[in-house]
Parts: sequence; structure tokens; C-alpha cells
Amino acid sequence: MAGGNNNGQGTGVGEEKTASPRQSEVNRKLKYISLAILVVQNASLILSIRYVRTLPGDRFFTTSAVVMAEVLKVLTCLLIILFQRKGNLKEFIVLQYNSIVIQYKDTLKLAVPALIYTLQNNLQYVAISNLPAATFQVTYQLKILTTALFSVLMLRKSLSRIQWLSLLLLFAGVAIVQLEQEGKQKETTVTGPSQNYAKGLVAVIVSCLSSGFAGVYFEKILKGSSASVWMRNIQLGIFGTLLGLLGMWWNDGLAIAEKGFLFGYTPMVWGVIFNQAFGGLLVAVVVKYADNILKGFATSFSIIVSTVVSVYLFGFHVDLLFTLGAGLVIGAVYMYSLPKAAAPSPSTATLSSSSHSLADGVGDSETEAFLPKSVLVK
Ligand code: C5P
Repeated sequence: MAGGNNNGQGTGVGEEKTASPRQSEVNRKLKYISLAILVVQNASLILSIRYVRTLPGDRFFTTSAVVMAEVLKVLTCLLIILFQRKGNLKEFIVLQYNSIVIQYKDTLKLAVPALIYTLQNNLQYVAISNLPAATFQVTYQLKILTTALFSVLMLRKSLSRIQWLSLLLLFAGVAIVQLEQEGKQKETTVTGPSQNYAKGLVAVIVSCLSSGFAGVYFEKILKGSSASVWMRNIQLGIFGTLLGLLGMWWNDGLAIAEKGFLFGYTPMVWGVIFNQAFGGLLVAVVVKYADNILKGFATSFSIIVSTVVSVYLFGFHVDLLFTLGAGLVIGAVYMYSLPKAAAPSPSTATLSSSSHSLADGVGDSETEAFLPKSVLVK
């Protein structure tokens, strides 16, 4: 286990079981900061994808984009660890060898979420290509509920009735915002003879199940060991790259052999891929310092942010339906962060203590509002 312990050294990441008060305070700040950055990152991803969809030109291979994002994530994590080791190459190589090869059983655990995420990342492109954009976005929000379900089943998290209700409201709020946008953007929706609605719907529903399961599984692995978030992502990314290459060969092998891996990679496509890779790492950090359910709140909130930004960028008009949806999302955020003691069920109040132990040094008082005021103001 030497490598595993090494991983956390000096990273401020893998230390949780006996976190000092100072460390807990740092973790608490990182939780808020990572959630706030996720709001901004996710909003910018939505806006850039929306923009790139309206541009004419050669279509890149989505399977190659999935692989490229995985490679970028692994390279970034390697660089971060090398930097943490102050450029000591020998120490760096020994650490990689220990963590990836010697502790191969640990590494193999990451094959499960890697397989699921690779499937999910490819399915999302299938879904987006076969469904109207807003239909995809609305249905994909079901992952808020699948994530909560898997968190309860796999991590034995407890949610009060109010919190379950807030998740339903969150889903409803985001769905209303998306439907409202669909009404407005009918003309920009891609419709073609090759679209298959049923195929798109199955793809997005499987994506929701996989998002919930893989997210919670990764959270369990991350919080159940001392390995750093960067090392875990290298392990995840190695499998992700291999599986992504397999998917690429299977789906687009011949076409890529003819046109090239980087076919259709415009600066904007690169931008989306970089954003996706950065977003993936950010998700890992958020899961480490907060959890998957809070991640769901942050991404839902970013949908509201991106819509508001659209007012300025794309001349989008805010109407009653949008105001209702946004109000529901903000109300859900408030409800979710209500003190647990206020929850009506006494049984859930007793259970809530078990979720503290799972939060492993990251969790703070259940009574604390989880989103910083700065996020809400933005
Ligand atoms: O929609 P959802 O939140 O499930 O998407 C999570 C995304 O984050 C996926 O694209 C997945 O590949 C990425 N991810 C990652 N590294 C992690 C966890 C998730 O790149 N450690």
C-alpha cells in the first residue's frame, strides 16, 4: 500500500480519514470553489456546444473526440503529479509504477466506471444526433434522480423527504427551462432523414442510468482510499482511452483510416474537447470534495446561468416559463440545504448521522447551506 499512501502525500487530497480542523476548513472551501467553477464550466460548455452546432463545415468524428478528451485528462493528471513531485522524474515514475502496476487490483476497479463512462460519452453523441437538443437536455436531467437513487443504495446516504422533494422540483425546474428553450429554438433544431427518435431516447435513458451509477461508484472508490484524485483519474483515463479507441475502431475505423484522426478538428471543436476534458477532471474534484448529488445541483444551476448569458449573446428573451423554471431550481437549492432537523420524518433524522461518516472529512454540518452565496449571486 506504499504507493497508495504516497499518492496523497502533499497533495492535500488523499488524507481524509483523520482530517485536522484546518484541513477540514480547506476541504470545505475546495468544495464550494469546485462547485462554483463547475457551474461556470458547465455553462460555458453548453454555450460553446450550442455555438459549434450552428457552424457549417466538416463534421469531426465524435469517437475520436472522446478518445482525445481522455488523453488530455491523463496528460493533465500526469503533469499535475509531476509538478507536485517538484519535477523529480525518478520519484514520479516509481509512484506511477507502484500505483498502477503493483497495485493492479486497485487499478482494475477503475475499469468499471471507465467502461460505463466511455459508453455514456459515446451514447450522448448518439442521443444528441437523434433527438431535438432540448428533448435530450430535458430527458438527460433524469440523472439527478438516478444519482440520488444510487447514492442511497450504494453509499447508504440518507435524504429527508424534503430533500427528495427538492430533487423532484430541481428536475421539474430544469425540464421547464429546457422545454421553454425548445419552443424558441425550433428552427435551429437539427432534423434530418437519418434521425431515429426511439434510438435517441434509449441512448439518453441508458446515459442517465450510467451517469448515476458510474458517478456514485467513482465516489465510493475515491472516498474509500487514500489515492489522490489525479492518480484515480490516470487509472480511469488509461481504461477510458483503451476502450475509447476500441469504440472508435469499431464505429469509424475505416473512415478514420481514410480521413485521419483529427479530421474536422476546427479550433472551436478543440475548444469543446478541452472544455470536456477539463469538465471531467472538475467532476472528479467535485465528487471528492462534495458529492454527486451536489454536482447535480451545480450543473442544473449552470443551465440557468447559460440561459441568462444567452440573453446577451443570442438575444434570448426571458419569459414567464423561464422565470418559473429558474424559480423552481433556486427553490430546490434552498430546500435541499434546509437543516435536516427541520425534516418531518424522525427516522431520516436518525439515519442522517450515517452520511457523515461517508463524507470522510469533506462533509460538514448538514445544516450548512451547500452552495456559497457567491454562486447564487453569479
Ligand atoms: O453527465 P455526467 O455528470 O454523468 O458526466 C460525467 C462526465 O465526467 C463524463 O463525461 C465522464 O467521462 C467525466 N468524468 C471524468 N472523470 C471522472 C468522472 C467523470 O472525466 N473522474
